[in-house]
Amino acid sequence: MRRPSQIGAAVIGSGFIGTVHIEALRRLGVQVHGLLGSSPERASARAEQMGVSRGYASLDDLLADARVEVVHVTSPNHLHHPQVREILAAGRHVVCEKPLAMTLEESCELVRLAEESGRVCAVNFNIRFYPLNQHAREIIGDGDLGDIRLVTGRYFQDWLLLETDWNWRLEPDRGGALRAVGDIGSHWLDLMTFITGHRITEVMADLVTFVPSRRQPAGPVETFSTERAAETVAREIATEDTATILLRFENGARGTVAISQVSPGRKNSLQYEIDGSTAAAAWDSEQPDQLWIGHRERSNEILIRNPALMGTAGATAAALPGGHVEGFADTFRALFRSIYDDIGAGAPAEHPAYPTFADGHDEMLVGDAVARSARDGRWTRVERGA
Ligand SMILES: NC(=O)c1ccc[n+]([C@@H]2O[C@H](COP(=O)([O-])OP(=O)(O)OC[C@H]3O[C@@H](n4cnc5c(N)ncnc54)[C@H](O)[C@@H]3O)[C@@H](O)[C@H]2O)c1
Repeated sequence: MRRPSQIGAAVIGSGFIGTVHIEALRRLGVQVHGLLGSSPERASARAEQMGVSRGYASLDDLLADARVEVVHVTSPNHLHHPQVREILAAGRHVVCEKPLAMTLEESCELVRLAEESGRVCAVNFNIRFYPLNQHAREIIGDGDLGDIRLVTGRYFQDWLLLETDWNWRLEPDRGGALRAVGDIGSHWLDLMTFITGHRITEVMADLVTFVPSRRQPAGPVETFSTERAAETVAREIATEDTATILLRFENGARGTVAISQVSPGRKNSLQYEIDGSTAAAAWDSEQPDQLWIGHRERSNEILIRNPALMGTAGATAAALPGGHVEGFADTFRALFRSIYDDIGAGAPAEHPAYPTFADGHDEMLVGDAVARSARDGRWTRVERGA
């Protein structure tokens, strides 16, 4: 069993989230040998800024570096499938950002290639790794909420509110046919299946584009940037700004979620409430160290994240004692620790503790049902096959 500090990695993409990957890997002691960007020049410049020894000229160049055993894919969505294929063909482990791919055919193929490879293949559904979300899954699995009946929530952001807001996610050939649902809804939908232990079987979805025309800057734009470009081009937008979705779960539970990238004042607000037959649990990503637990016949509780007061899974994901607030970036450390445990062991565990390519594909299946439901205006089954 090798420790993370004995394992070498490389990162593709060093934008918003690639930077978070590199910082989390360093906290674990993983050797980040180099990074790949949109051009050799950009890769070298970012490598220098981040104190990484190499900027690779191409993916072939990266894969020729024998020190690299794990590749983190944090490029725009349309590159995940072709890059992961090459990485697996070169025999490396992969940590791929969500969504796993652009289409069901692609994600299905990646699941097959992952199985054939015997490598560790993870999808970065990092929100699972807030310690209190690990704890919520554990107490629900222990039956503390009774039977799960109602699962409600939202994921709201405001960074695409204005017609002058622009990002590659708005281009379907780079971001995918689903935008708000694929980009942030995917996290909520995955999280609810993870925490409740129940998959979504049917959906009834309404998708709306409230900003049908946007101003695309003539030059490149950083994710979450608020700068306004002087020169812009008008672009028609067909992907959804918001989604409202009714849900049916395999145990008979019902749910509803609202997803939006145009909600003024909401920066990154993922909330859920899970109501069971004996108790309820609720959580908000902007107050991530607090889990509300609701009761009928005694006082409600607020559990402040604390390794001493959580079960094994929650305590394992926590890095700091109670009262020392942990947040978004810490979830990457916790998730990567679980992934690198398997990499250190040389192969995936029988039941990996982290989200796998199969989980990434399942979320694509739910997204496909959402798109079909919105198009047909009716309840639609998630097609998982026999
Ligand atoms: N898990 C999360 O919470 C989370 C959060 C944000 C983004 N993401 C995902 O991460 C991915 C990247 O998102 P982002 O917000 O960091 O985007 P970004 O635009 O900030 O960064 C993308 C990076 O990819 C690089 N890139 C572009 N073309 C490339 C190419 N051909 N080869 C190599 N690199 C290339 C760009 O130079 C840039 O560094 C997306 O798939 C997104 O869905 C996940």
